[in-house]
Amino acid sequence: MKLLVTGGAGFIGANFIHHILRKYPDYRVVNLDALTYAGNLENLKMWENDARYRFVKGDIADPGVIEPLVAACDIVVHFAAESHVDRSILDPGAFIRTNVQGTQVLLEAAKQHNKRFHHVSTDEVFGALGPDDAPFDERTPYDPRSPYSASKAASDHLVRAYFHTYGLPITISNCSNNYGPYHFPEKLIPLAITNLLAGKNVPVYGDGRQVRDWLYVADHCQAIDLIIHQGTIGETYCVGGNSERENIWIVKQLLTLLGKDESAIEYVQDRAGHDRRYAIDFSKIKDELGWQPEVTLEEGLQKTVDWFKENEPWWKNVKSGDYQEYYARQYDKR
Ligand code: NAD
Ligand code: TYD
Repeated sequence: MKLLVTGGAGFIGANFIHHILRKYPDYRVVNLDALTYAGNLENLKMWENDARYRFVKGDIADPGVIEPLVAACDIVVHFAAESHVDRSILDPGAFIRTNVQGTQVLLEAAKQHNKRFHHVSTDEVFGALGPDDAPFDERTPYDPRSPYSASKAASDHLVRAYFHTYGLPITISNCSNNYGPYHFPEKLIPLAITNLLAGKNVPVYGDGRQVRDWLYVADHCQAIDLIIHQGTIGETYCVGGNSERENIWIVKQLLTLLGKDESAIEYVQDRAGHDRRYAIDFSKIKDELGWQPEVTLEEGLQKTVDWFKENEPWWKNVKSGDYQEYYARQYDKR
């Protein structure tokens, strides 16, 4: 099988390419990535001399780049996106361009060549839950509330529109918050770990009692593997980690794992429009495809801390350049 993976130099895409190349010796992967601030070829260095892997630098919104790559693959697995809510609050335009227009350009090429298309999306398209609300599932109405989640919701609708209108063989997955190796340190868990390793504080937004469901990235990759091989065309699958926690619980757990005390917690101004709670009911993928998360949150956080300790040059390099400029803008805002 020949996979065109978009956004493979980012966090989840890179983990997915590792998963595929390790598990399927006869598969080939083309990784199409624009190498934005979040794309990092270091994440895939071990494959650069492997004949089964090829990297192409390019923008998913550029039809001239996309068309021959889509024509040559069996399936498009679409991860490429602007992915960070805080950045979407600062600059929504980039999110519309990549997440909405870029997805439509890819869909058009897939339609032209009638290719299987898997779209990786987020639980944030469903909005925010109250403390006693039932978790999101595949029937939950869309109610996106940040520029990021609005752009992902639009992309999900386009993917479904190409299925209903043109019969394009699609599947969609909506997953909860991933964490693990190669996670860009602007998101809560890798930011907290790398700040603590560098002797800095951890910024906790608002009261820190917002709830997220945490999914270890390897479990997510296995779910996508099952969906692309056995999923029902036209269907959506919700993928969750069975690990709802308040942000402050996560931060305190990381303090313990890294031998730090609570003086490293710095409560800062809340995120604009901050969604209070996300949670996922993953019964459908469990019942239909036999998937469930294998890594507990406690194990996953330990593995993630170990990975960041063992890969200091990776995160020190990532936390320079554009990253510093972004954080300066974030803190100016407060
Ligand atoms: P990421 O930000 O780490 O990586 C995104 C990758 O896409 C980068 O390598 C970047 O260079 C590339 N990219 C961005 N714009 C591009 C463009 N126009 N053309 C080609 N490449 C481009 O993101 P991630 O955390 O790995 O997320 C991957 C996907 O999973 C996204 O679609 C995201 O919405 C979704 N998702 C992520 C999470 C999470 O917790 N990280 C949760 C749910 C869903
Ligand atoms: P994040 O990792 O940005 O993912 P998302 O916004 O997609 O859920 O944030 C996870 C939670 O952690 C969210 O409630 C915001 C909060 N948060 C902090 O409290 N401090 C931080 O420095 C960051 C980046 C996030």
